[in-house]
Amino acid sequence: MPTTPQTWLITGCSSGFGEFFVRQLRAQGDNVIATGRNAATKLAHLKDTGASILDLDVAAPVPEIEAKMAEAWGLYPNGTDVVVNNAGYILSGVFEELTSRKSREQDMLACFKTNFHGPLNITRALLPRLRAKGKGTMLFMSSQAGFHADANATGYVATKHALEGAVECRSKELAIFAPDIKVLLVEPSYFRTRAFGNINRVPQHITLYAEFNKAVFDAVTSAVAKEPGTRTRRSRS
Ligand SMILES: NC(=O)c1ccc[n+]([C@@H]2O[C@H](COP(=O)([O-])OP(=O)(O)OC[C@H]3O[C@@H](n4cnc5c(N)ncnc54)[C@H](OP(=O)(O)O)[C@@H]3O)[C@@H](O)[C@H]2O)c1
Repeated sequence: MPTTPQTWLITGCSSGFGEFFVRQLRAQGDNVIATGRNAATKLAHLKDTGASILDLDVAAPVPEIEAKMAEAWGLYPNGTDVVVNNAGYILSGVFEELTSRKSREQDMLACFKTNFHGPLNITRALLPRLRAKGKGTMLFMSSQAGFHADANATGYVATKHALEGAVECRSKELAIFAPDIKVLLVEPSYFRTRAFGNINRVPQHITLYAEFNKAVFDAVTSAVAKEPGTRTRRSRS
């Protein structure tokens, strides 16, 4: 375990795991670069943690991501030690409704931009710097959806499966070419963040699936704020 403070760059810090990581890491004295969309407003609540705040949409075009990573790297004398690719969202809908209309392809592409290409673009931008430094850790928030498939979850499951494949390949390459750069995949189950209250649902339009979609919607809606993977402050004491 490192004894000197580490510098962490975390994506998607407006809520959920990202916000929790920022608070926890700052409490233990590490440096944190908390990033998020519309950071001036959405990350304002993190200012008093002492984290550096950086505006970052992980789905932004590559040149923008590269410029942001250069900016982030310059914020602390030793660049960044740990990169946490946390930003992501759930896209819900049966396969046929997600793909049967041209516009629906856009939902899949948008989800891939955030959950898959975003983390890879960030990795590509930071890897040369980490290799020059000789060490570092890259963490990727996948999901149980990275190894398990559910009906009505094609979009999300596809992005997390793809992410896991790419990250595992990268990990094996780094084991050969830069063994002191570590790669971690995290596969949470159901945690009480904003994720399930904030699902992006493809609009219902094929009658065959109407009843099934409603059942999924009702099941998810009734589970929001009851996800088992979070202990409240009260249950901890
Ligand atoms: N909660 C769970 O049970 C669970 C289970 C498995 C995996 N995960 C994964 O955990 C990660 C964090 O999710 P969470 O559970 O903490 O949910 P959350 O509270 O909804 O947080 C998601 C974060 O991602 C950000 N985000 C979404 N799209 C973005 C983009 N294009 N650029 C930058 N930030 C973006 C959101 O920012 P905005 O406020 O701007 O939308 C928010 O800060 C996700 O990758 C999710 O797939 C969660």
